[in-house]
Amino acid sequence: MQLLPGFRDFYPEDCARRNYIIATWREVARRYGFVEFDGPMLEPVELYKKKSGGELVGQLFDFTDKGERHVALRPEMTPTLARMIIARERDFKKPIKWFCAPQFFRYEKQQRGRLREFGQLNCDLIGESSVAADAEMVALAIDMLRAFGLSGEDFVVRVSDRDAWKAFLDAHGSFDEAGLAAFLQVVDKMERNKPEVTETALKAFGISLEEVRAFIANPGTHFERFNALAAELDARGLKGFYQLDPTIVRGLAYYTGLVFEVFDRKKTLRAVAGGGRYDNLMSAMSDGKVTLPAIGFGMGDVVLGELIDATPAAAEKMKTWIAQRHAADVYIVIANEARRVNALGLVQQLRGMGFRVDYPLSAAKVGKQFQNAEQAGARCAVVIGDEWPQIKLKTLATRDECIVALDELPARLDSASPGFLVS
Ligand code: HAM
Repeated sequence: MQLLPGFRDFYPEDCARRNYIIATWREVARRYGFVEFDGPMLEPVELYKKKSGGELVGQLFDFTDKGERHVALRPEMTPTLARMIIARERDFKKPIKWFCAPQFFRYEKQQRGRLREFGQLNCDLIGESSVAADAEMVALAIDMLRAFGLSGEDFVVRVSDRDAWKAFLDAHGSFDEAGLAAFLQVVDKMERNKPEVTETALKAFGISLEEVRAFIANPGTHFERFNALAAELDARGLKGFYQLDPTIVRGLAYYTGLVFEVFDRKKTLRAVAGGGRYDNLMSAMSDGKVTLPAIGFGMGDVVLGELIDATPAAAEKMKTWIAQRHAADVYIVIANEARRVNALGLVQQLRGMGFRVDYPLSAAKVGKQFQNAEQAGARCAVVIGDEWPQIKLKTLATRDECIVALDELPARLDSASPGFLVS
């Protein structure tokens, strides 16, 4: 049986990579004072049809369940987050700072950087409309990537502002919300589409491609919010990690104002992350009962993994993290089968203390047991044999060995194998 296109098996080595990515995301989000939440994997399809909009609606994994409900696997978190906040808005102190890192599903054409199942970190700050909040979120996106060993030479945050495009459109005529949304879709696809296609699409708005290009090249004073953001980021020492790029408008319907995307510097990969303000979403979803400004971003594990692999310093960092989490730290070698009972007692005792311990389930040659110890990544081998109740302790990397008494063993293991309790 073949895998469905765009889905992944996670063999232990793949799981180790995923664990690394999620552990790093969690660690950095918590450094910024964010707390973790989650929602359901399945939602009513209307949640996305009404709120996500754009391309995403055509990419839903939707079906009718046995109760005749039209449902969809979650393609993104933002509408769920908004629903959850609206339901218990009064219970949370503002600003609300939440993150999550689950799996999402989009029926996209499988290609480099795009799968049908992917992991995505979401960080959202709700209840604060200031540029200080914008800066906090962009800084968080930057620090997320720096935590993987990536630098300003490897990635850049491209920042834009939908309000600037709204002002540009308003200067060319009178358009309603739907008109603005349609126009933003044209700008969003500009980089991917042929100029003729964009030219034709722009005709509906009475705007020429030249006018749009001139605005991008020389946006004048329309990006005031960006300038304020830049000052905040520079104060944090983050100059060089971001740039103004008016071509970024984002595909999702709910964004208002500031939007941004993170790309690799070489521009060979898809976006690593994307986000922006969505100041009207809560209000639109609660018929005006809850009005909370919000800003957030999503960062996918697929492109991030590709960027880590393509950046030696980041790849090395990941390798080291994974190597520290081997299956076993201590391998009990049973050199004399008559001592198996004693060995089992010791295995349990050490496991109870938090050591990662493995041992042979059946009789095996000592040489083979040492091989197994190496394969499991163990740092120490504890040999139970004729010396019992004395024990031979061997540090596998250096081949140093010594004889220790049973009650000294835990302390000796601890010093021979520092950091054995890595989570
Ligand atoms: P998005 O731009 O659709 O935004 O996705 C954010 C990131 O998720 C992308 O930059 C990409 O790395 C990853 N991603 C998206 N689709 C796929 C896919 N099919 N395969 C692999 N990776 C993918 C959102 O989803 C917004 N809800 C983010 C947000 C949170 N905005 C505010 N808060």
